[in-house]
Amino acid sequence: MPSTTLLVVSALAALVGVAVYLPMQRSTTLFEGPSVVENFGMDRCKRVSGPAFCDDVRVQRNLNLGFLACDPSLPYRNFAASVFDEAKMKEDGALWVYDLNKSGSPAEKLTIKGFEGPFHPSGISFAPTSDDGTPARVVILVVNHVPLEMPRVEVLYYYPARKSLVYKKTISSEHFFAANKIAASSSPMVHQHDDTPSFFVTNDHGYNLTDWKRTYEEKYNLPAASLVYYNARADLAQEVGWRFQLPSAIVASHEDDSLWVAQAKGGTVDLYKSHVLSVEHQEQRVRSADTREPISIIWPGMMNEEIMNTKIFNVGLDYEPESMTLVTISHPKWNNYVAVAKEKLHSRDAAPTTKAGFILSKANLYPVRVGETRPKPRKDVVFDPEETPRRYKYKLFLEPLISNDGSDFGTPSAIAVSGGRALVSSGYEQGFLDCSIAP
Ligand SMILES: *[C@@H]1O[C@H](CO)[C@@H](O)[C@H](O)[C@H]1NC(C)=O
Ligand SMILES: *[C@@H]1O[C@H](CO)[C@@H](O)[C@H](O)[C@H]1NC(C)=O
Repeated sequence: MPSTTLLVVSALAALVGVAVYLPMQRSTTLFEGPSVVENFGMDRCKRVSGPAFCDDVRVQRNLNLGFLACDPSLPYRNFAASVFDEAKMKEDGALWVYDLNKSGSPAEKLTIKGFEGPFHPSGISFAPTSDDGTPARVVILVVNHVPLEMPRVEVLYYYPARKSLVYKKTISSEHFFAANKIAASSSPMVHQHDDTPSFFVTNDHGYNLTDWKRTYEEKYNLPAASLVYYNARADLAQEVGWRFQLPSAIVASHEDDSLWVAQAKGGTVDLYKSHVLSVEHQEQRVRSADTREPISIIWPGMMNEEIMNTKIFNVGLDYEPESMTLVTISHPKWNNYVAVAKEKLHSRDAAPTTKAGFILSKANLYPVRVGETRPKPRKDVVFDPEETPRRYKYKLFLEPLISNDGSDFGTPSAIAVSGGRALVSSGYEQGFLDCSIAP
């Protein structure tokens, strides 16, 4: 006859077993992906030549210019996939510019005037501009991975009339230890002398490359990564979000300091919004870095507003507020992507033996019955949300628009949307895609 203690201990062990097994099972399904990756929608895309090994693409929408962050050393520093050998990072990267008004024209490589030192760009973002027409100058923020050092953020000015890129300054912080993607904030906390905006940065991991805890973070896919906010007037950064699972893309949403975050290893796309929850904890009195006056700053209090369980490995994300278009780019099979990354680390220019494709999805709004998770009313003919508003709410659902098994294009790194078109960059392909996502 087993004792009560033994029964209780066995029950607890079973519970712990299930609690560990289920998330691991979920990750395995997410990383393995479907057995067959379908091919459709490639006729919407054309490949634009120019850059290779790109980690990010963003569109400055007033100018309708795409900027890509590309680096021949990217195969030696794929920190998001934890595949790297920093000693091999010799060649510098660059920003490339692509004019969406001149569709099909190649992208052009930009040199940075006044910049010296290693340049290995990851995330890019632009200071929001109120100019409706053509701004004379755009402030660009770029995450720069200097080998064996802490990543930093470079502030650059772009002058569209002369297609010239000029170095302004470098922003460093101990909180940028695994900095990856960046999103400028539309907060009025803008540096008064050089127009540097405040911004958010994601750390793709919770620990840096040399920290032994990172091994466990990778092995068990722990949600340990963070979100950092930099206040440009105070010249101070602080972590404002925790427990992310490989946050691979961030982009500003409708309101000030509200953000869409893609958690690649979580399979979700989340909306976070800043709230003042406690002035006592969020307010800080500082001497401003620009005018040297005492000012009071409020650190964002990031609250989750929405979680989209997409069940796919979203590596890139973009949102166009004017058209309310949300798009993602995903790895259909993360494991295949990592296999390609490992081969490329070994031999950058050899064709990989594994195929790692992509899926481009667009979010659509559907009415959903309260308490349910599926857009049932699509089948429900008598449904009218206007008449029964309390029983239904609108929810976003991601639906694939273009999918490729890697035969034509793959290993995506980011997506940018503008006026019914989407640019897709890739970590290991030559060139990038310019696709129509119009209905
Ligand atoms: C592209 O076209 C738009 C709309 O006509 C215009 O506002 C923008 O300045 C153009 N971009 C460039 C780089 O000329
Ligand atoms: C990485 O983290 C370890 C342990 O926290 C620390 O000792 C080391 O200085 C960090 N290295 C960098 C480059 O940030």
